[in-house]
Amino acid sequence: MSPWSVPELREREFPWTRDRIYFNNASIGPIPARTQRAIDAVEAGRRDPGTFDDASLMGILPAARAAVAGFIGARVEEVALAPNTSYGLNAAAAVLPLRAGDTVLVSEGEFPANVYPWLMRRRHGVRVELVPRTPQGWPDEERLLERVQDPGVRALAMSFVQFASGYRADLDRLGRACRASGTFLVVDAIQGLGQCPLRVDEVAIDLLACGAQKWLLGPWGAGFLYVRRDLVEELQPAFAGWMAFRGTDDFSRLTDYDATFHLDARRFEMVTLPYQDLAGMTASLALLREIGVERVAAHQRSLRQVLEAATARGGLTLVSPTDPRHDSGIWCVRTSGIEAAYARLRAAGISAALREGSIRLSPHAYNTADEVARVVELLEAR
Ligand SMILES: Cc1ncc(COP(=O)(O)O)c(C=O)c1O
Repeated sequence: MSPWSVPELREREFPWTRDRIYFNNASIGPIPARTQRAIDAVEAGRRDPGTFDDASLMGILPAARAAVAGFIGARVEEVALAPNTSYGLNAAAAVLPLRAGDTVLVSEGEFPANVYPWLMRRRHGVRVELVPRTPQGWPDEERLLERVQDPGVRALAMSFVQFASGYRADLDRLGRACRASGTFLVVDAIQGLGQCPLRVDEVAIDLLACGAQKWLLGPWGAGFLYVRRDLVEELQPAFAGWMAFRGTDDFSRLTDYDATFHLDARRFEMVTLPYQDLAGMTASLALLREIGVERVAAHQRSLRQVLEAATARGGLTLVSPTDPRHDSGIWCVRTSGIEAAYARLRAAGISAALREGSIRLSPHAYNTADEVARVVELLEAR
């Protein structure tokens, strides 16, 4: 049982919720109070360098890797710290052993961060197949499952949750099919982790990239790349971070170069990294573990009932999945006069997003049913 009640969470970690309604976690997650304190503590050390030493600074990186590993069910040696999602997706696209003529599958409608790194591999003769979506505009998992059987298909790059529909992929099913056919499964997890439960030790994911700035409630500049243990040593980074090598272990003999990559995922890290942001991410992950991601998802589902009751009245259409196999806390709503409806939210000081023809509402653990009711009222007003 989580120690947090929603009012307590609002008061202690998100006190601004007294004055403001925020439904935009799929764009930017707010920084909890404890995370700000963790960031400030590191920055205080920058302002007065007498207050920290190299060892405590260097402790931030292992603590962040351990926090990520605990959060996603990985081993610490499978976690590389990164500044954002794009870094991890680019690393994946660059290091996977793809040859001319190989195909990478990507669903149409994916966020560009999970498209362009793969398109870049076309200059090496790699084919990128944009798989058409279902009539609802969701990834066509049946078609993807069929296509991974093709021996020419070497990788599937998939968002855990789609940014513009909230569709949550059945990574378990896709992972099993990919593993059986020898296809790499690469996951862009930023729209799912923190709101939808996922453990990489239970699902056959090969690489997973995530930034902390949305549902993980972390700072900009913090994120990570997960690489499955048996792939870590096999995959040779396409670039050389100076702390990715054994030769850098001893800071007193840095010029005794030893170009042997670390045997763990640190080989993919590009140090120097933003220590203050990574300390912040660690604090945010601790909060989310206390709350429990299962509870976040259950809370969102209970909030969604307010919106679903409104759609039953007509006027509003929810175009996101509500089936528990594919739903998430991203709710895309359509209505006539969508620009005006969005303007009404903005005029009321409510933060949401306009994406691909829908108003995207993305509530987190701290939102309330009263807030959803207020949003619905404004969307229904004419
Ligand atoms: C699916 C998805 N991937 C990636 C990103 C962002 O990538 P990055 O962390 O590199 O900014 C976003 C949103 O901004 C997104 O919705």
